[in-house]
Amino acid sequence: MRLLKQLWRWFDEVTGFSKSLGPVLTHPVPRARRSRWFYVFGSATLTAFLIQVVTGIALSSAYVTGSGQAYDSLHFINSFPIGRVVRGIHYFGASAMIILIGLHTIRVYLMGAYKYPRQVNWLTGAGLLLFTLLMAFTGQLLRWDQIGFWTAVVAAEQAGRAPLIGNWLGHFILAGNTAGGATLSRFFAAHVFFIPALIFVFLAVHLYLVVYNGISEPPEAGRPVDPRTYRGWYHELLQREGIPFWPHAAWRDLLFGTIVVVCVFLLALLVGPPELGNPPDPSIVSASPRPDWYFMWYFALLSLIPKWSERWVIIMGPMLFGLFLILVPILGGRGERSPLRRPWSIVLVASVIAVVAHYWAMGIRAPWSPRLDAPPLPAAVVGVTSGPIADGARVFYDKGCEYCHTVSGYGGIRGPDLSDAGDRMSPAQMATRIFSGAENMPSYRGELSEGELNSLLAFLASRHIVQPPKPPVLRTER
Ligand code: HEC
Repeated sequence: MRLLKQLWRWFDEVTGFSKSLGPVLTHPVPRARRSRWFYVFGSATLTAFLIQVVTGIALSSAYVTGSGQAYDSLHFINSFPIGRVVRGIHYFGASAMIILIGLHTIRVYLMGAYKYPRQVNWLTGAGLLLFTLLMAFTGQLLRWDQIGFWTAVVAAEQAGRAPLIGNWLGHFILAGNTAGGATLSRFFAAHVFFIPALIFVFLAVHLYLVVYNGISEPPEAGRPVDPRTYRGWYHELLQREGIPFWPHAAWRDLLFGTIVVVCVFLLALLVGPPELGNPPDPSIVSASPRPDWYFMWYFALLSLIPKWSERWVIIMGPMLFGLFLILVPILGGRGERSPLRRPWSIVLVASVIAVVAHYWAMGIRAPWSPRLDAPPLPAAVVGVTSGPIADGARVFYDKGCEYCHTVSGYGGIRGPDLSDAGDRMSPAQMATRIFSGAENMPSYRGELSEGELNSLLAFLASRHIVQPPKPPVLRTER
């Protein structure tokens, strides 16, 4: 014991540890009376990130980056109980980090904590949010099974459809024209070196600023931020009723962080890592790319909006979001902080949550299971109201083709979009597919009469892409 104490005194003397870090730990923070627990999400995000660093290093020491071996090396890791648990922790740690950084962002936004003098706190935080999402995206491909592979390919294809920079972007993401070994190396380098390095730099600045500017006091309606007087006022507030961060505020961070760690561990033990699917096979196009849950809503959004708007949403959506994050502290750097005096902030957060939740629910349901509630095709889509084509459209609905196939925006998306079937396939090819079925399509041999088949083929052959495709017209003639 004495020896330890001596050792510590020597260490402290030569490093100045308690002299430099002591004041940081014990610096006064505002006494938040009602909102204390809202302040724990930031430190919990950091905790989740540290979990990811530790388990990530462990995983990378057994992972082989190569299109031939990546999948096998994960199987190898998976074959040990400890390997499974580490993979599980890394997976649920990622989920935790996404949830926590989301909560932290919402908390800071609603409380107006990005206002003077904490604008750069917010901007570095916005960078960290972006990097976290990029980590989640790149990590998924490293699994290098069918699903991870196709998710990245679909994402790159979608990025490739963006106007102007699409080609370049798709090429950049895949490191070539097609997904392959080079793609895997690129994602690995981004996931393991490039993005983490950026995260560390931004995190350092972010934490430094948290200490330098102090933790924001809980907002109060009718107490606007004025950059000329704020610092003096804040200083006085701390003098008057500040409490030392350690231990009076920090215990909540510690407790919450511990809960996060325990939850991640338990989930990893009880649920386990995501199952490895089949190895990727670029020739199997029917694999259903199913992104990890946090991106599900975005995939669903992209697959459900009208095709013509897709290329704009792909590029404009993230850009508008980025622009919003940058402009928030620049345009709103002063004034009222209380959400009660900024009702639009509540509306905005509520609508974003509603949209994400809506598309998330769709994503879980729509693309991977037939859409059983698809309405019959309206006459405006069919084009005619009688004759073989109109009969075929009815068969298309009655026989459930529409559960899985979209025509002009109507129907499910389990199978390929058939809006342009007439451009792509001959009637004989279609008949073959209808009779033989496919991995995810039932065979209709014996299910269709000769007349039904002929009108169905007439209908499908009449499907051409008319550009620009009109948005679905819902009101039709009576
Ligand atoms: C349970 C979902 C499901 C149903 C129901 C279904 N299909 Fe399919 N269909 C698919 C899938 C999945 C594919 C892609 C199969 C593949 O190529 O691997 C497909 C492929 C096709 C193709 C080839 C499209 C292409 O681009 O290669 C045609 C044509 C087609 N289906 C027509 C029909 C018709 C007509 C019906 C109704 C009689 C029907 N399908 C019912 C899921 C379905």
